[in-house]
Amino acid sequence: MKAGKSSIGIGLLGIGVIGSGVAKVLLNKTDTLSRRAGIPVILQKIVENDLNKHGTLGIDTGLFTANYDDILHSTDIDVIIELIGGEHPAFEFVSQALNNGKHVVTANKELMAKHGYNLLKLAHEHNVSLRYEASVGGGIPLIAPFQQDLVANDITTIYAILNGTTNYIITRMAQENLDFSAALKQAQELGYAEANPSNDIEGLDAAYKLAILATIAFGTEIKMQDIYYEGISRLQARDFRYAQELNYSIKLLAIAKQIDDFIEVRVHPVFISEDSLLAKVNGVYNAINVEGDLVGSLIFYGQGAGPQPTSSAVVSDVIKIAQNIANGIVNNIQITPSEHKYTIKPMSEIETKYYMRMNVEDRSGVLAQISKILGDHSISISSVIQKESDPATKTAEIVIMTHPAKEQAVQEALKKAENLDIVKEISNFVRVEA
Ligand code: HSE
Repeated sequence: MKAGKSSIGIGLLGIGVIGSGVAKVLLNKTDTLSRRAGIPVILQKIVENDLNKHGTLGIDTGLFTANYDDILHSTDIDVIIELIGGEHPAFEFVSQALNNGKHVVTANKELMAKHGYNLLKLAHEHNVSLRYEASVGGGIPLIAPFQQDLVANDITTIYAILNGTTNYIITRMAQENLDFSAALKQAQELGYAEANPSNDIEGLDAAYKLAILATIAFGTEIKMQDIYYEGISRLQARDFRYAQELNYSIKLLAIAKQIDDFIEVRVHPVFISEDSLLAKVNGVYNAINVEGDLVGSLIFYGQGAGPQPTSSAVVSDVIKIAQNIANGIVNNIQITPSEHKYTIKPMSEIETKYYMRMNVEDRSGVLAQISKILGDHSISISSVIQKESDPATKTAEIVIMTHPAKEQAVQEALKKAENLDIVKEISNFVRVEA
């Protein structure tokens, strides 16, 4: 970056819902933002292939170009904002921008989860910044607190609600006794869930975000293949009813734990105490509970998506870069490798408590056979409740809560139980984090 710049030029890649929100903030608040940056911050160019979109949204036609080189190679552009989303071609554009000595701000969780470690190295090599606050938790400040404000801590645990769509669905299921498909339909009608919501529903979106946070928290590259993820589609209204009767809530949690030399990183539905703060996070909101050795327990809470919260994070990242340029500071934070060599604990090795729901024959000796299988796998039962029974089919639903047990043992025991004649169906099982 040349010294003595008189203004900071911004190039924007992607003018979808988030991109247009960001463009409007940059255009409507130019004076305020420039004052806070200590240097004029000017949106110079917006790249949009679709010529029909040029000049839409009340944005001056003159800002649009269909040619990526107009920002990747322009000497007027200092900071490129990438809001295309997805892995490709965002990866190629961001790499090229960094190679060309441009600072980059991105909201792209898939890009940062899959390539963040190498892109941060690339930024470091070229003495430029790569900032990605909006990639996790929308408007909630997380990346900067993890990189800077909590840097004195050893982070031991993250429990996080990182996907608003699934939290909305789960909230409706819990509060209105709705089944999954009905709650999903409502989320889609209200625009909270996309037409193809599988990344959200199956836990992949939360897994991307967990990879990004855990990589910073533990100072070691957490790859997508390290993360076990499972979505919410197996949950039924009755699971929420039974959870409430047992004083639990169900949430889709992204969990990262560091225990001795091991790291656990997983996303799946979890029973959590109804008294916990995370249990009270409803609707599309996100919340992140972090435990550090010095700071203790912290909660971040807010809107994890939407044009305005996301613009808050994206534009703040731009202003931080502009402030650094104005002050002649190179602040290209990269991931500081941990002094520890951690091993990722396979999912089969994790230990937690379990909720199991099964449909069985309603006659004597049934519980004895099931408890024997669990006992043979060193799974200790903490309670068994017989729920609804159906005299016509002579079946009953039972709910079993266990003490901590190994995941592999639970999986094997459930498979064996399923083969018993007296077990009609293993309807669900959910891990319990007290
Ligand atoms: N689809 C995400 C969510 C928002 O539902 O939280 C963007 O990360």
